[in-house]
Amino acid sequence: MHEDDLTRAEEDYFSSLTIAEADGDDDRAVEAALRPKSLDELIGQQRVREQLSLVLEAARQRERAPDHVLLSGPPGLGKTTLAMIIAAEMSAPLRITSGPAITHAGDLAAILSGLNEGEVLFVDEIHRMSRPAEEMLYLAMEDFRVDVVIGKGPGATAIPIDLPPFTLVGATTRAGLLPGPLRDRFGFTGHLELYDPADLELIVRRSAGLLDVTLNDDGAAEIAGRSRGTPRIANRLLRRVRDYAQVKADGTVTQEVAQKALDLYEVDPLGLDRLDLAVLDALCRRFGGGPVGISTLSVAVGEERETVEEVAEPFLVRSGFLARTPRGRVATPAAWEHLGLPVPANTEAAAWSTDALWNEA
Ligand SMILES: Nc1ncnc2c1ncn2[C@@H]1O[C@H](COP(=O)(O)OP(=O)(O)O)[C@@H](O)[C@H]1O
Ligand SMILES: [Mg+2]
Repeated sequence: MHEDDLTRAEEDYFSSLTIAEADGDDDRAVEAALRPKSLDELIGQQRVREQLSLVLEAARQRERAPDHVLLSGPPGLGKTTLAMIIAAEMSAPLRITSGPAITHAGDLAAILSGLNEGEVLFVDEIHRMSRPAEEMLYLAMEDFRVDVVIGKGPGATAIPIDLPPFTLVGATTRAGLLPGPLRDRFGFTGHLELYDPADLELIVRRSAGLLDVTLNDDGAAEIAGRSRGTPRIANRLLRRVRDYAQVKADGTVTQEVAQKALDLYEVDPLGLDRLDLAVLDALCRRFGGGPVGISTLSVAVGEERETVEEVAEPFLVRSGFLARTPRGRVATPAAWEHLGLPVPANTEAAAWSTDALWNEA
């Protein structure tokens, strides 16, 4: 099931599931059950957590709906979780929809005019909303009003409908994908970053506790290290390792068990996924290490430029395999080594010091 198809009733169902009910093989159900329910329960993202906590506290003191919030960052880092937390922290109802689900302005008008005072409206993938809907949203965000057009042609009239104060929470893989006027109407933007291994380790340990998995610290570190900075992946790998521990060992997740399980599932030792590896492979084998433009690189791996830019690159840059230079994307010596290829003597990246690579991120 895709998130687009999610109705509010279903989302309520998923978030009300207990761990025992959710602990099957249904990814979505387990994911929902593992979601932190408050800002305090959320691990990592220190900066966003502090900023958001201030926004919410101030709104509570003023007894007003908080400013509209935009959450940006790669998939699986906690955008949906944060939207749910915002509603929970405000003790407000939550309504969930997504950009692709809003194909006509009328769809949005129906949602907006059904909102109750103080309600939180979560629009996932907000950068994929249709143009007319976007324009309707500007007005709703700023003036808490929608103009519903009745009739067609010269006889058409716009009837303004006042909306109760509400909080829009939008999620996008990158804030830069949004048109400026929409971006500017959010009072607060939280940029989620890939998690560092220490935070991921805490997340794995928390999830293991909730799922009743016995795991030692080395086991947690091994899973965290292969999760490509992403809690969703960490939780998924934990469940695969748990299967292995149960069937092939005594049920306890140790480092050795985690290593064997993840090797069996062909999880790269550093967590790179198929797209990450395809990008590095194209960069090194087809383009001699670069520099190569992002569009050319995306065509070479058969993916949308957006996906390569928003999903693969942040992790590759962060892991020191790829650098974004003014002349294009460049493979670092570490990339060649990771692919098991000899490092060419004069790679473009050799000119980039490690410091420069990090700063590029
Ligand atoms: N900071 C965090 N602490 C613990 N678990 C997290 C955290 N962020 C995300 N998760 C877990 O990762 C999974 C994916 O999070 P989600 O909010 O759906 O990501 P996104 O909407 O950004 O794709 C959820 O199951 C959630 O439990
Ligand atoms: Mg989400």
